[in-house]
Amino acid sequence: MLSREQIQELLQPVTDPETGKSLVELQLIRDIMIKEDRISLSLICPETDETKRMKLEQEVRDRLREGGAENVHIRLRDITDHERSKLRREAAPEEEKLQGHAAGLEGLGLLNKNSGIHFIAIASGKGGVGKSTVTVNLAAALARKGKRVGLIDADIYGFSVPDMMGIEEAPVVEDGTIIPVERFGVKVMSMGFFIRENNPVIWRGPMLGKMLRQFFSDVGWGELDYMLLDLPPGTGDVALDVHQMLPQSKEVIVTTPHATAAFVAARAGTMALQTDHEILGVIENMAYYQCSACGQKDYIFGRGGGARLAESLHTDLIGQIPLGAPDNTVSDPDFSPSVYKAGTGTAELFDEIAARLILKCE
Ligand SMILES: Nc1ncnc2c1ncn2[C@@H]1O[C@H](COP(=O)(O)OP(=O)(O)OP(=O)(O)O)[C@@H](O)[C@H]1O
Ligand SMILES: [Mg+2]
Repeated sequence: MLSREQIQELLQPVTDPETGKSLVELQLIRDIMIKEDRISLSLICPETDETKRMKLEQEVRDRLREGGAENVHIRLRDITDHERSKLRREAAPEEEKLQGHAAGLEGLGLLNKNSGIHFIAIASGKGGVGKSTVTVNLAAALARKGKRVGLIDADIYGFSVPDMMGIEEAPVVEDGTIIPVERFGVKVMSMGFFIRENNPVIWRGPMLGKMLRQFFSDVGWGELDYMLLDLPPGTGDVALDVHQMLPQSKEVIVTTPHATAAFVAARAGTMALQTDHEILGVIENMAYYQCSACGQKDYIFGRGGGARLAESLHTDLIGQIPLGAPDNTVSDPDFSPSVYKAGTGTAELFDEIAARLILKCE
């Protein structure tokens, strides 16, 4: 039996007559399903002329037959105006695309400047400082305040949000639109949903970038007040790409209290400022350890890094989160390894940070 990848490979040479680009690359071949000896797929047809449509369908069928697939079910659907304009943009030459990129994306609901959505990207200078932990808890805290919240795990290589939030289901697709998974009142989208069994991501960078862009365009987010983005650590390509994709996004920088961590985090802050993104504040994670018996705070990773960083970036230290894992067990129905439960001390600290962010944004 053919695999999904083999099917895509076989259909690679089938092109859109207008742009000459592969239908697979244009993502006009969708919903590929393989069940026993039967393959079904959707062909989003860029042709309106009936004979040309049939020709395209026949070509798909023939290619699959050459690959050994006899039992093929093709759902033919007309391309929508929205998809067509997107397709033109994607098929445009590279330079044109770079220039027209921001403008083109603005047409899409989520990225429309007038959408009223507050974008907040969570960045850090280096890995492992708790950026994802902060993102998921901030998202949950905003949701507790009655905000409609979306979360994009933009760390496409090192995605961790689904596991951290204890999400077990995958998003469903309705009419070619991916419906995000909701958890703790937060709508979540992550590369992790599309990669099974923790297989490492071996796709090429540009393909991942495209995927990330689709999180904005092809996902049914519904109405949102806030969209949080968990950026990959550091100031690499993906982080830069997100900055460019989202000129309206504001930024929160996460650091640990250690002086060198704060120094490295400053680079992420500088990148935000250089790309004209307002920094809403600094969050110091793993700020201290509080003894549960006597309440004394021990500053085991040092002290003052967050405050100094905020000062150097001319912004505020908007929160300090202590060390400690959420108190729950796998058997809880709302188990999550990294989301602190509402009402607990750390969750309340996130509530306060959320309130500060709302004040700054609205
Ligand atoms: N305040 C905290 N107390 C205890 N453990 C924490 C805290 N914050 C984060 N951790 C743990 O530290 C590790 C790194 O956190 P997290 O994954 O959130 O960091 P990150 O900056 O997103 O990392 P990466 O660079 O890999 O994306 C995780 O195992 C997380 O559970
Ligand atoms: Mg992370």
